[in-house]
This record gives sequence, C-alpha cells and structure tokens, in this order.
Amino acid sequence: MKILCFGAGGFIGSHLSQRLLADGHSVIGLDTHADKVQDIIGHARLTFFEKDIRADEVDLDRLIQEAEVVVDLIAHANPGAYVGRPLDVFRLNFMENLRIAEACVRHGRRLIQFSSCEVYGKTPVASLRGVLPDPDNPAYATFAEETSDFILGPLNKHRWIYACAKQLLERVLHAYGLEGKLNFTIIRPFNFIGPKIDYLPSEAPGIPRVFSFFMEALLQGRPLPLVDGGRHRRCYCYIADAIDCVSRIVANPRGACDGQVFNVGAPANETSIRDLATLMGRIYVEQFAPPGAPLPGTEDVPAGRFYGRGYEDSDRRIPDISKARSLLGWEPKTGLREMLEITMAYYVNGRRSKR
Ligand code: NAD
Ligand code: UGA
Repeated sequence: MKILCFGAGGFIGSHLSQRLLADGHSVIGLDTHADKVQDIIGHARLTFFEKDIRADEVDLDRLIQEAEVVVDLIAHANPGAYVGRPLDVFRLNFMENLRIAEACVRHGRRLIQFSSCEVYGKTPVASLRGVLPDPDNPAYATFAEETSDFILGPLNKHRWIYACAKQLLERVLHAYGLEGKLNFTIIRPFNFIGPKIDYLPSEAPGIPRVFSFFMEALLQGRPLPLVDGGRHRRCYCYIADAIDCVSRIVANPRGACDGQVFNVGAPANETSIRDLATLMGRIYVEQFAPPGAPLPGTEDVPAGRFYGRGYEDSDRRIPDISKARSLLGWEPKTGLREMLEITMAYYVNGRRSKR
C-alpha cells in the first residue's frame, strides 16, 4: 500500500516508517525533523518531506489524494509543552489534525489517528480523593476503549488541554464515522519506550519524557529527579511490540479495525516512577557504569518547580488490551527490564539523536 505518514520523523513515526517499508509498503513521510529517519532516507520506497504541516507549500489535499492510507502522528507530545505552551498544543494537536482528518473525509481516505491514553485522564481514586475503601484495586485504573469514562482536571490545571484536544479530535472522527463520511481507526498509546525516544534534556529546549531525564541524570552522575516523589504509576510498552500492533492495524484484516479505537500498551509492565528510577539505576550500575560505582540516588522535586504552574498528573493507567488481543491477535512480549536495557544501551553507546 501507499501510506502517508504525518510525523514520520518522530519517535513512533521513525520506527513505524521502518516497519512499513519492511512490510513492503511505500511510505510518504512528512515531518519538521529528519534526524531520526537517517537510517531509511534513500530507501527506494520512501519519500520524505522535511516540512512543517502548516507551511503554505504543503499541499495537503494532493498528498492525501495520492495515498491509500493516512497515519497521523503529529502532535506536541510532552507534558512540558502542555504546561508551557497550551495554545500551541491546542492549535497543533487539534486544529492541524482536524485539517488532516477533513482532507481524508474530502478524499475518502482511511485515517489512522494517534490519540493518547491521556484521554482517560485520572482514575476515580484521584478524583474522589480518599473516598474509596480499596484505592489500590487495579480495576479503578484499568481503562477500556468502549466503557471507561474520561476524567480530566479543572481548568486551571492546563496540562489537560492535551487530553482535551485529543479527546475532541476523537469525538469529531467518531461523528464523521456516524455520518458514514470517514473510515478511521484511533490508537491510544500507553507510554512507549525504546531507542529514539525524545532527546536528552541538555540537548534541546523543552521538557522531554521521564526516561530522558533519568538517562541524562545517570550519564552525568546526578540524582534522578522524582516529581512529587515519583508516586504515580505507568505501564511501559516496548516500541517494537507497539509497532507490531500498529502494523496489524495498518493491515486491517477483514476490516476489523474500521471505526475502532485501540488501546496499545503492556498491562503487565506497571511500575511506579520511583521504582522505574531504582530499576534504571540498578541496570546502569550493573551494565554501564565503571566497576564499583555506587547506586545512583534520587531527588524529590515538587511538580510546580519541575513543570511550572498548571501541572497535574495522571495518577495511574493500565490498558485493557482485550480488543487488540481478540481482533488482532496481538500481545506485548517485552518486559520492563529488557526494554530499559535496550533503550539505555542505545543512549550509553552514543547513538543518541540531537533532539
Ligand atoms: P514525537 O514528538 O517524537 O513525534 C511527533 C512528531 O511530530 C515529531 O517528530 C515532530 O517533529 C512532528 N511535528 C510536530 N509539529 C509538526 C509540524 N508542525 N509539522 C510537521 N511535523 C510536526 O512523539 P511520539 O512519541 O512519536 O508520538 C507520536 C504520536 O503518538 C503523538 O500524536 C502523540 O501524542 C501520540 N502518543 C505517543 C505516546 C508515546 O508513548 N510515545 C503516548 C501517547 C500518545
Ligand atoms: C506523556 C504524554 O503526556 C503523552 O504524550 C503520552 O500519552 C504519554 O507520555 C505516553 O508516553 O504514553 P506522561 O506519562 O505523564 O505522559 O509522561 P512523562 O513525562 O514521561 O511522565 C511520567 C511520570 O514521570 C509523571 O508522573 C511525571 O511527573 C514523572 N517524572 C517526569 C518524573 O518523576 N521525573 C522526571 O524527570 C520527569
């Protein structure tokens, strides 16, 4: 197939483009950055435009008309941006993505839209603040595509503008689907980790995701920063497992993905951020640090100091992946330790990207 991939130069986009080429597809990629796709630039079935989706010279209609399937990954994807530049997040993550979706409607193209597990927001445990008798019950934090509510924080916690923009986009796609005007599939990733994730904080402005902060602290021999003590929990999914699922969604066996929303994540890999720091520290000492190096320490940092005003955390999120299992036969395979070992080796060995 001929697949148009917006955001092809990003963390997920670069891995996905590589996989789509390996699967025999032709890929037309567009991204403002090309450094993460240097290994595939020059491939006979890849056309890559290093361009801003907002630039006048980008002829969205023509690009979409020429493709069979459109994959949209473009977004500001880091919490630092949601807090520091909320209007940019709305404009890019909603307005620009809406333009892409409406062009798909105009030209009758299938759209695979990357949304986020952030749409689920907080758990009832966080929003009811201490009322529930068994707050650790994972049932409160296990989110299913068709039944879970979306619980976001108040207006003055503008972190939620990202979740809100993603959610509104999902609702618009769903509404076009109801009117029979768009064949879409929505993907909600749950915290992917792997080589090429983000950039190290000292290498570019902005606030990347937690792996990059911990990796840089380890490389520089500084304590790992734990926002609000690292008490919140995430389920990490290895990028290759995630891409395997996305490739099945692209293949769309018997139309199984038409009009569907998929959680993509690894429920077995739940960890608190504090335990993630401890595990990365152990792996670093065992495999990468000079012999006899001490275990790295941690440092508690208040969220307001780390991110600025308007941050509120998603407390816990476990994906219910029964739909991906039953419709796609997909199962994540990689454990947390293994994915960290691979991703840390990538950085320690100096193949890190400059962004
Ligand atoms: P990423 O930041 O690496 O990728 C986004 C890409 O979009 C970047 O390469 C960026 O250069 C590009 N982009 C931004 N603005 C652009 C513009 N104006 N014109 C052209 N390109 C532009 O992030 P990612 O982790 O690869 O995420 C991809 C998608 O998946 C995003 O929509 C994100 O919200 C979603 N997502 C990712 C995760 C995850 O675990 N990585 C989790 C939830 C949701
Ligand atoms: C991010 C983005 O919001 C989404 O793009 C995406 O849905 C999600 O990643 C994802 O990858 O699935 P989040 O999990 O909050 O969400 O991203 P991180 O910045 O990696 O934060 C994870 C946790 O670590 C948070 O509790 C944060 O406060 C904490 N943290 C972050 C630290 O303790 N120390 C740090 O140095 C950085």
